[in-house]
Amino acid sequence: MKSSAIAHSNIALIKYWGNWDKVSPKLNIPLNDSVSMTKYGFSESIHLQTHTTIEFSEDFKENEAILNNNPLKGRDMERILKIINPLRNLKKIDYKFKMMSFNDFPTQAGLASSAAGFAALTIAAAKALSLDLTQEELSTYARLGSGSAARSIHGGFVYWYQGISHETSYAEKICGSYDFDINAIIAIIDEGKKDVTSDLGHELAKTSIFNPIRIKKSHEQAVEIKAAILNDDFKKVGMIAEKNCMFMHSVMMTSEPALFYWSPITLKVIKKVLYLRKSENLDCFFTIDAGPNVHCLCRPEIIEYVQNILENIEGIEKTILVRPANDSYTTNEHLF
Ligand code: PMV
Repeated sequence: MKSSAIAHSNIALIKYWGNWDKVSPKLNIPLNDSVSMTKYGFSESIHLQTHTTIEFSEDFKENEAILNNNPLKGRDMERILKIINPLRNLKKIDYKFKMMSFNDFPTQAGLASSAAGFAALTIAAAKALSLDLTQEELSTYARLGSGSAARSIHGGFVYWYQGISHETSYAEKICGSYDFDINAIIAIIDEGKKDVTSDLGHELAKTSIFNPIRIKKSHEQAVEIKAAILNDDFKKVGMIAEKNCMFMHSVMMTSEPALFYWSPITLKVIKKVLYLRKSENLDCFFTIDAGPNVHCLCRPEIIEYVQNILENIEGIEKTILVRPANDSYTTNEHLF
């Protein structure tokens, strides 16, 4: 009962921010539909992926989880159990498990490491338990660890339906990694752990007066961006993603207490992207998750040109080039 899986991180084009409190907040049912691109880092050794091995055995006395050589305890272990417990129940066993996981990129730095991590965990655990689940069902279990992990089950471009229950809040693939030609440059400003976790941020979303309008617009934008992706309309995708990002950050900045994930360098990158669009007529757009780092979206033809410009901004530690990732997968390469 041992299995391994590799899953990738994703960047939200339409953001998930805040949980629906009509159902249990523990289920991570979002306030709106969201859309993402699952991403593969191709510039260097950082592929933005998590490799996880899990084994269940009646001989194990304790549950054990290790991430990047560090044993996980407390809240981290609780989040793992939120996925493993229901899967063990489905299989009707109560064996303890050992899990080992490696991220090839910074953890909790706004690069969606939890999305890749919980997606890899779900896929590996379901296989180790010989559970025959669809991709959509897998996404509901990954969601219990971290909402955005629901989307990382799939490669390419992904639509996560808000839903009204555990079963109906699932992610579905819009199209594959080769169906829409888009790349991104991640301008890394800070690789450190973020000060305010997205968990706390989700709770604060409802304290912003702008949240209801963000929810309404996000639903509309999710539908619009899906159509634009399927129509290969890059400009439209970029414009919608950028607007939606600003809606989320407006909610963050007007929450009580206010959340500022940006650094002054974040604003410099935003201004540079706007300048490139206006003065050089380049189709590039920005989006930012819950951290200071900026994803600059562009077509593959101009990626190196834009990368060079971003790398010359003072304060940019480095850049990572990404393209749409293929599906997550199981592998026979076990970590123990
Ligand atoms: O899945 P979480 O709880 O880490 O939340 C992700 C929140 C954002 O990255 C800011 C937006 C998103 O949809 O991924």
